[in-house]
Amino acid sequence: MGAQLINGKDIAQSIRKELKEKVSQLEARGKKPGLAVVLVGDDPASAVYVRQKKRACKEIGIYSEEHHLPEDISQDELLTLVDRLNKDPNIHGILVQLPLPEGLDETEVIDAIDPRKDVDGFHPINVGRLHIGEKGFVPCTPAGIIELVRRLEVPISGKKVVVVGRSNIVGKPTAALFLRENATVTICHSRTKDVFEECRQADILVAAVGKPHMVKKEWVKPGAIVIDVGINRIDGRLVGDVDFDEVKEVAGAITPVPGGVGPMTIAMLMKATVAAVE
Ligand code: GUN
Repeated sequence: MGAQLINGKDIAQSIRKELKEKVSQLEARGKKPGLAVVLVGDDPASAVYVRQKKRACKEIGIYSEEHHLPEDISQDELLTLVDRLNKDPNIHGILVQLPLPEGLDETEVIDAIDPRKDVDGFHPINVGRLHIGEKGFVPCTPAGIIELVRRLEVPISGKKVVVVGRSNIVGKPTAALFLRENATVTICHSRTKDVFEECRQADILVAAVGKPHMVKKEWVKPGAIVIDVGINRIDGRLVGDVDFDEVKEVAGAITPVPGGVGPMTIAMLMKATVAAVE
């Protein structure tokens, strides 16, 4: 293997350890961070994520409560819960696990979250702040990606970054964060004329499309940093959007799946929740 393996699991673990320290200092001053996680319906993947978030809270010393609501809950009932959590002084962060079941209006629910408690960084106020360079909550997966690249200690400024995927949760905010770091950023999507040609130019390539093993070694410039955000399940096995086995031979550094970006998302959520108290 030619590439340096970016160990997200270890980095996330060290961030959680730092946060645990910080939380005990906050507690000494009578402040305990609190996170409310809202899960609607019974999507198995969402249930796994929510369980991981609760476990991380417990480890760090963050108070957490889960609101597991039935799939057929009304929009009004969901909005009433969000409103109650907005007003709850013990809750500093509110996370509504996405996607919501069909029939519920995701945009309206996100808009209802108090931007000061929007630890996911999905509220339009925080999205706007990210784009104009103001302080605010940043989506957790993109924040984790930047943190992984920063720790490689190679300058991001002036680099060519290609992000494949334009979702509101990953692609767009990742591009905005790299732009803020003075990279030259290209976003590719399903209508891009030649994704392969774009990717081959990248110093830093971020794959966030949800297509197993889409990125092949020919797509990667030798020595490039490759960040794989894909979490695809094939016969119960997790695989990324990058064909890891072949790309690792040409990349300069690469994240594995699992154990790359995934654990960082949760660590950054914990960091945001602690920051929400401060
Ligand atoms: N679904 C997939 N990723 C995320 C995330 O980062 N936050 C929330 N709330 N839902 C998600």
